[in-house]
Amino acid sequence: MIVSLPPRWMLFTGALAALALAVPPFVIARVRATPDPNRAVHIFFDMDFQPKFRPQSVNPLFADGRAQRPSVLGTVARGEAGLDVHLSDGVVNGKWADTLPAGMTMSRELLDRGQQRYNIYCSACHGYGGYGDGTVNKRAMELMTNSAGPANGTSWVQAKSLHDPLVREHPLGMLFNIASNGIRTMAGYSAQIDTADRWAIAAYVQALQLSQNASIQDVPPEIRDNLKKEVK
Ligand code: HEC
Repeated sequence: MIVSLPPRWMLFTGALAALALAVPPFVIARVRATPDPNRAVHIFFDMDFQPKFRPQSVNPLFADGRAQRPSVLGTVARGEAGLDVHLSDGVVNGKWADTLPAGMTMSRELLDRGQQRYNIYCSACHGYGGYGDGTVNKRAMELMTNSAGPANGTSWVQAKSLHDPLVREHPLGMLFNIASNGIRTMAGYSAQIDTADRWAIAAYVQALQLSQNASIQDVPPEIRDNLKKEVK
């Protein structure tokens, strides 16, 4: 079969028309991308004409004529104060703190608060008892070991048991710091839990650790006697 092409002039005009069609989008795109305060037709205003002072520009409103104002005396940048490293980092004299920061006292209320916050924020992975067996951990293990093999390349680092001998040695300040900034694959919780609550959690973790590794000597004598009676 002979395929007859249209005449050359037609092909030529067609190609030229196709090329010409491509021009307007280019022009529009270029005009959109080039800022020009004197443009006659301004289709999209966006925020091109907002009243504002540019950096380093002059503002006659202030005596020193500077549009950029220096920060008000005594301003403390959020999260950058770092004035009390005991409170913010859990560090005293370059070492992990063994005590609560000034203004906080160890009390039943503090531990109760710590327990409540721990149960909300930490138990999902570490488990209520702190053995690293929380529900998130269980689910991850399930995904890792199901018959189809690890789903979508799932990998999981087991949440550490807080009763691991090494973790039991962590000073209070270090536990606070881990709750704040995380450690290795564990993320920090300073964005979700406020400072006082992170201290309460750290204190509770130590109580939890003691609860799983206590000897009868750790029990106050008056209660000890009661315990013995109960055991009988
Ligand atoms: C999403 C899961 C998850 C949550 C929630 C979580 N952790 Fe962890 N945590 C881990 C994992 C995983 C590790 C082990 C990290 C590693 O070894 O890479 C770990 C390790 C730790 C360790 C041991 C650090 C060490 O020296 O090995 C402590 C202490 C700890 N977490 C405390 C907490 C506290 C307190 C909270 C609550 C504020 C918390 N974690 C919340 C997953 C979690």
